[in-house]
Amino acid sequence: MTEPVTTAKTVPSARTEAVVRIEGLSKSFDGRTVLDNVNLEVDRGRIVSVIGQSGGGKTTLMRCVNLLERPDGGTVEVAGEVVHSGGRTLCRDLPRLRRTVGMVFQKFHLFPHLTAVENIVLAQRKAGVAEQEALERAVALLRRVGVAHRGLAQPEQLSGGEQQRVAIARALALRPEVLLFDEPTSSLDPEATREVLSVMRELAADGMTMLLVTHELPFAREVSDHVVFVDGGRIVEEGRPQDVLDHPAQIRTREFLAAYGSTS
Ligand SMILES: Nc1ncnc2c1ncn2[C@@H]1O[C@H](COP(=O)(O)OP(=O)(O)O)[C@@H](O)[C@H]1O
Ligand SMILES: [Mg+2]
Repeated sequence: MTEPVTTAKTVPSARTEAVVRIEGLSKSFDGRTVLDNVNLEVDRGRIVSVIGQSGGGKTTLMRCVNLLERPDGGTVEVAGEVVHSGGRTLCRDLPRLRRTVGMVFQKFHLFPHLTAVENIVLAQRKAGVAEQEALERAVALLRRVGVAHRGLAQPEQLSGGEQQRVAIARALALRPEVLLFDEPTSSLDPEATREVLSVMRELAADGMTMLLVTHELPFAREVSDHVVFVDGGRIVEEGRPQDVLDHPAQIRTREFLAAYGSTS
């Protein structure tokens, strides 16, 4: 990828290296190839969106970044540290890696028996943040994602959009260097989708580094610096959103966009 240009949403930093760098990544399940020689970089302050149909390997790709999934081959580098190479895990501090790489999932994954505040505090307690600071951060983050008034509610009392915003606050509480979103709005109705995308739009404007799997193509077009189309475990096409989404070069990309509707 080329050097990032300085824009309003680029974090001012002397370090412009990739926060995530994946080279030659491969992964099979039961002898079936799910990722095949994938190369991907996410530079600091940049937003990369991964699109593609179900079963293409998008979730597996994301899970390989924080080693929730163990790659078979290739290199995974996060924040300057090679955490996996050639089928061997080199990361010596997995909890630290998972703090560096925040994750937001399609199904929220909040603890059902804890309130919104407690969900965010617990994540920090596990990471060694002092109780008072954890509580203050939780309250501030709930405010930031627009659900401050729901802090004492448990997940089942929250709407899907509220739950996902709490999950985003929880991921932010650990001050990650990059946030991974895996179809964060796929379980949400249109109203909740709008709420969550609005929070993500603000994170983007604040310069958060993000790797995002989404079917929200207009959103991907709007916020992404780079769009990657994955099909059958391979990157079929990638580039600027206006190129990949509006003028795709590959037939597979065109077929995918026709099926999903590239404008809506
Ligand atoms: N833990 C697993 N064990 C076996 N097969 C898996 C596992 N995880 C994913 N797969 C398979 O890998 C393929 C890619 O899955 P996934 O990464 O979830 O794709 P996507 O997120 O693009 O829908 C699918 O065929 C899926 O069934
Ligand atoms: Mg998936």
